[in-house]
Amino acid sequence: MIEIIGPLTHARHPGTTRAGGKPAPLQKQLIERLQQAILTGRLPAGSLLPASRMLAAEMGVSRNTVVIAYEHLAAVGYVVADRKGTRVSPLSSPAARGEPPAQATVRDVAYAARVGQFGATRTQGDSTLPLTPGTPALDRFPLPAWRRALERAMERSLPLALGYGTPAGEPALRDAIAAHLRMARGVRCDGSQIVITEGAQEALNLCTRLFSNPGDTGWIEDPGYRGAKAAFHLGDLNTVPMPVDAEGIKVPDDAWQTQPPKLLYTSPAHQYPTGAVLSVARRLALIAQARSCGTWLIEDDYDGEFRYTGEPIASMQGLVEDAPVLYVGSFSKTMFPALRIGFVVLPRAIAAHTEVALQEILRGGHRLEQLALAHFIESGEFGRHLGRMRRLYRERQQALRDALTEHFPASAILGGDCGMHLTLRLPDAIDDNALVARALTEGLNPRALSAFALVPRSGANGLVIGYGCTPAEQLAPAIRTLARLAGASSGTARA
Ligand SMILES: Cc1ncc(COP(=O)(O)O)c(C=O)c1O
Repeated sequence: MIEIIGPLTHARHPGTTRAGGKPAPLQKQLIERLQQAILTGRLPAGSLLPASRMLAAEMGVSRNTVVIAYEHLAAVGYVVADRKGTRVSPLSSPAARGEPPAQATVRDVAYAARVGQFGATRTQGDSTLPLTPGTPALDRFPLPAWRRALERAMERSLPLALGYGTPAGEPALRDAIAAHLRMARGVRCDGSQIVITEGAQEALNLCTRLFSNPGDTGWIEDPGYRGAKAAFHLGDLNTVPMPVDAEGIKVPDDAWQTQPPKLLYTSPAHQYPTGAVLSVARRLALIAQARSCGTWLIEDDYDGEFRYTGEPIASMQGLVEDAPVLYVGSFSKTMFPALRIGFVVLPRAIAAHTEVALQEILRGGHRLEQLALAHFIESGEFGRHLGRMRRLYRERQQALRDALTEHFPASAILGGDCGMHLTLRLPDAIDDNALVARALTEGLNPRALSAFALVPRSGANGLVIGYGCTPAEQLAPAIRTLARLAGASSGTARA
C-alpha cells in the first residue's frame, strides 16, 4: 500500500516536515492520501483495502489511526465496509474509472461561445493611467466627507445594516436618487421605481433578464457601449446593430416593421463613444415606435451630469408621461467606479410587478455604502462635488481639444461639451488597435474606436480619449506622444 499512497510524514523526522511548519496529523494525512488514490483510480473500485492492523504496521501509525481513517472514508462514501473487509466504492469520477479527464471546450462556456471571443483580449491598461476614458478625477474625490458619511452610517445603522437589506436597495438611497433625478435630469420618478444595482452593468443585465426572453431581438448603437452588448449576449438576445450619426442612433425607416426589438439600448445624452446628442425629434419617434411595438427603451445616462455649456440635456424618460423607458444610471463617474453603485428607474406601472422577481434574484447588500451615499446626496455634498468636477472637466476638455487641434489638424474631433472623453477619427491607414498598444508602452491608455464597432467596417478607426483622470497640464504632452506614434504609420498627425 505504501507504494500506492506514499509514506506519511512523521513529526519526529524533522527533515521530512513541510517548509516552515509542522506536518499535518497522521490521521488527516492518511485520509487525504487514500482519498486521492481512490479519486485518481490508483485504488480502483472494488479493491480490498488492507486490514487496519496490517496498514497500521506498514505506515508506522497506530491501529486506531487507521480505524478512524477508514470510518471517515466510509462515512463520505469512498469505501464500504462489511464482514469481509473494507472495499473501494464504485465512483462516477472519470479518473476513478481510469478515464482521461475531459478537456473543456469553448462550447462548454456557453456565454463565451455566444460572445465569440473566448481567450481574446483587448488592449486595455490600468484604468487610472492618463487618457483612460471613463475614469473620473480620483485624486479630487472628497475623501474626508465620504469617510464621515460612512462613519455616520456605521454609528447609526450597525449592527442592523449587517443583515440582508431590501432587494431593491436602501429606501433612503432610492428616495435620495429619485429627488436628485427629478431635479437634475428631469426624470419622472419616485423612490419606489428605483432598483439599486452593482453599477450600471448590473442594471443592464437586470433589464435584459426582466424585460426580454432568450431569442428576442435587441437593438444596440453601433459603434456602441460594449457593456450593453455583453448584457444582450448574456440574455441570449438576437443583437442587431443600429447605425449612429451626428444626431445619435438612426433607425432605418423600415426596421420597426421588419424586426421590431424587445429591447433597444441607447445613450441619448452623450452617445458612447461618438458623443452625439440624440435629437428631440428622434427621441419622440423612438418613444412612439416603442409604444406601438411593445419595445422597452434602455436609456443609459452614464455621464449626463457633466455638461459644460448651456442647460443640461434632460432625460428621454421624462420627455413624456409614462414613456416606455428603463432609465439606467451609475455613480461610477460622479463618485468613483469601485463604489459599484448604479440603478435603474422602472416605469411606474411596472415597478410593483417586479417586486416578487426582484426578491428572487437580488439580496440587498452593501447597505452601509448605500446609506452613506444617501446622506452624501441629501447633505448637499454630492451636488458640491459635481459642481467642482464640472469646472475641472470643462478645463480639461478644453486642454484636450486644443492639443488635438494642434497635433491632429486633419482629424475630426467628435463629442460635444459633455462627459469625460473626446473621440478622434483616424484614417483607415492607421491601425488604431496597434496605436493603442504602442501608447500603452508609453503609459497612455486611450481606447481604439474600432473596438466599439459591432460590425467591422471601414471609417471606424480612431481613438477614444478620456480626460477625467488626466490633469490639464499633462494632456498636451500626452497628445504630442500619440501624434508621434500615429505619425509613424501615416502623415495625418503633426509630430
Ligand atoms: C456607456 C457607459 N455606460 C455605463 C457605464 C458605467 O458602468 P458601471 O456603472 O457598471 O461602472 C460606463 C462606464 O464606463 C459607460 O461608458
